[in-house]
Amino acid sequence: MSQIDIAVVVGSLRRESFNKQLAGALVKLAPSDFSFRTLRIDDLPLYNQDDDANPADEVRRLKGEVTAARGLLFVTPEYNRSMPGVLKNALDHASRPYGQNAWARKPAGVIGASIGAQGTVCAQQHLRNVLAYLDVPTLAQPESYVTVKDGYFTADGGIADDGNRKFLQRWVDAWVAWVRKLA
Ligand SMILES: Cc1cc2nc3c(=O)[nH]c(=O)nc-3n(C[C@H](O)[C@H](O)[C@H](O)COP(=O)(O)O)c2cc1C
Repeated sequence: MSQIDIAVVVGSLRRESFNKQLAGALVKLAPSDFSFRTLRIDDLPLYNQDDDANPADEVRRLKGEVTAARGLLFVTPEYNRSMPGVLKNALDHASRPYGQNAWARKPAGVIGASIGAQGTVCAQQHLRNVLAYLDVPTLAQPESYVTVKDGYFTADGGIADDGNRKFLQRWVDAWVAWVRKLA
């Protein structure tokens, strides 16, 4: 069975990030023919259109990794009712120069974790808006807005609660089917 390479983009740079942990837990719920690479976005310069003709090595790396992937997984927190700037910066970098959008037509899933009850709804909607423009077919349903409290994750990076795990498994299964259909 050939592997399906997935690029994972996490919108938080925080060391103990819940979204990093969620991304790791989702990987554990995915089938064995899915391979995951988390894209590094913390060393990218701020996007500047002047640099389109001569991008930094880090930007070339990002674009190469996106291009090589067959599917995308975005796991993001919400910052002030939107996506974090570091995530938007990465999206902008790999979308340019005009006509060389590396994200285009890669099937994607969008999910996010917050400490707030309604957390990531706005961030995910804003991200979906950008992805639509970038020609990224994004799984619509089921949606998943994860509220994280202490003890949500197990020590080995899984999901502690049975109900939460089943809920996320359902989301992963739908996203996997989406990627298989479109990749
Ligand atoms: C700058 C900033 C803005 C935030 N704004 C929101 C927000 O709009 N909605 C929300 O649910 N949580 C918000 N939070 C709280 C985050 O949900 C919380 O910090 C979460 O742990 C961030 O994700 P991470 O653990 O992956 O870093 C904000 C946090 C920061 C640092």
